[in-house]
Amino acid sequence: MNGSDSIHHRLFFVVPFVRFQILSRSSHSHKLTCLEEPSRNADFLFVSPENGHQRTSTTTTTIQNPFTIHNYSTGTVPGACSSTPVVPSLARPHMSSMSNAGRIFWKIGSPPPAELSCKNPFLATLIPRTAAWFSVDDERVALLDGYNACCYTPPTIIFGIKTLPPAMIAKLMEAKVCTMSSATVRESQAAYQKAACLEGDIPQDFTFDELGMKARKSKQGYPAAVDAAPIKMHCSLNQIVNFDGTSDGESMIILTVETFLVDGSALSPPTEIMAGRDIKAKIDAELIQPVVSLGNGIFAPLAGLRSMPRPQKQNDGGWVSNAFEGNPPTVGTSNYGAMEWSYKVHGPQCPLGFNPITALIMPRSIGWISTYKKDGRIPHIAPYSFFVDVARGKQPMVVFSGARKNGEIKKDAQTDAEDMGCFVYNMVSEDLAVAMNYSAAEMGRNESEFELAGLAQEKATIVDAPVVKDAHVKYECEYIQTVDIASFSLVIGKVVGISVDASVLTNGRVDHMKARPITRLGYMNEYGILK
Ligand SMILES: Cc1cc2nc3c(=O)[nH]c(=O)nc-3n(C[C@H](O)[C@H](O)[C@H](O)COP(=O)(O)O)c2cc1C
Repeated sequence: MNGSDSIHHRLFFVVPFVRFQILSRSSHSHKLTCLEEPSRNADFLFVSPENGHQRTSTTTTTIQNPFTIHNYSTGTVPGACSSTPVVPSLARPHMSSMSNAGRIFWKIGSPPPAELSCKNPFLATLIPRTAAWFSVDDERVALLDGYNACCYTPPTIIFGIKTLPPAMIAKLMEAKVCTMSSATVRESQAAYQKAACLEGDIPQDFTFDELGMKARKSKQGYPAAVDAAPIKMHCSLNQIVNFDGTSDGESMIILTVETFLVDGSALSPPTEIMAGRDIKAKIDAELIQPVVSLGNGIFAPLAGLRSMPRPQKQNDGGWVSNAFEGNPPTVGTSNYGAMEWSYKVHGPQCPLGFNPITALIMPRSIGWISTYKKDGRIPHIAPYSFFVDVARGKQPMVVFSGARKNGEIKKDAQTDAEDMGCFVYNMVSEDLAVAMNYSAAEMGRNESEFELAGLAQEKATIVDAPVVKDAHVKYECEYIQTVDIASFSLVIGKVVGISVDASVLTNGRVDHMKARPITRLGYMNEYGILK
């Protein structure tokens, strides 16, 4: 571990934990991995286990105006997602409603309200953000503060052009290849403090030396990676989508991950939930110890893992969700070698036995997308963890990526956003986690997930879409465009209004300790919380 002098090592404690499951018919106890309260060192939070990874438990591209898309390579591998429309019949008590008194609403284009008193009020509300180290040569590296996956095969990544230093973007355009290395607790606090971009400033790049990091040269001709990073991704430039309407050069960069390199120290034995599938090893978030950005130079590791399998359909047509609870402990010891997956070499199935993109690009924030169906104004809502901002200047923009069934049938959120010309992002906080899970039920177009989840709804202030009344942060978005990448659709929206619950702000920023947003990890049941 580099620069360990500035990292506070803490022990993991494992305590028995039993929690009632909400409306679940099978109740079993789990163990909660409980971490000691992390040290708050200036504006940097870190928790790392004492024993490293030794634990006792625990395209075809559719291009439409107004974008210009530079296509450097194409992916054409079809994919599929399961969706079986059903008739739900689950009545749940409505969640408590929050008064509107403490709400702040910022209409983009007008001066931000005094309560959001910071350099970039949009970014001050957009937490957490997935982070990675980014290099375009063997010398220099920058911290990419906010990116996400957007397609399984080919494995694809997106972020806004302004998230990286301009010099790196220029080099990326020229070389058309780059390397990304996971941002984890292995790098020193000093490295993060130096490399972090304060919101409103232009991102900077540094030599590996300047950040006290060792570079690992690539054997395959890609730029160097951070040596200590358990996950390394060699990428090629797929497309640049210019948002012509926004005047200040905002664009969305799309990369194809050509090769994933995963260190053996990030792998653990398959868990019970993976039984019956031919899975060789689990890519383990607890071993990777990723760091997320909370904005303005503040980074935090995961404080705990949570488990919540997708809601199950019952024989009577209703749906049942488990509670949002502690992840079952990992069993067995880890003794794995490094793993390499290149979809062009190995095909869509990674040697570990599954498509690992969600286990490698994480923790992801969840875009909880609400819309009206045009015909009948049925309120729809569903979670999309392929969600990220793609412009963070005067005109913020966000994107969610929806899988199309058989590469063709769109999910409701996409259809509605395109039909109605708008959608809303709602933040998922811990108290809304179970409702969020219900909203992922595959329901018919004429059914409302709001009703199934017992969610109080309101109409958005500017756009014609419903919002989750109790969500701490909401972005009202005008639909701009859809870009198809293989069997996924990237639905892009201009943020026109931001609604924030004043009680989750500290010094003009959304405070993760108050808002308690949850993050999505790799597997069907896995989530992370920040402490
Ligand atoms: C936490 C979570 C994150 C999800 N993220 C995505 C995603 O990024 N893209 C996607 O296509 N489906 C995702 N899903 C599945 C969709 O939510 C699910 O298919 C839902 O039924 C779609 O609803 P809709 O058709 O009403 O939009 C996710 C599910 C969960 C529980």
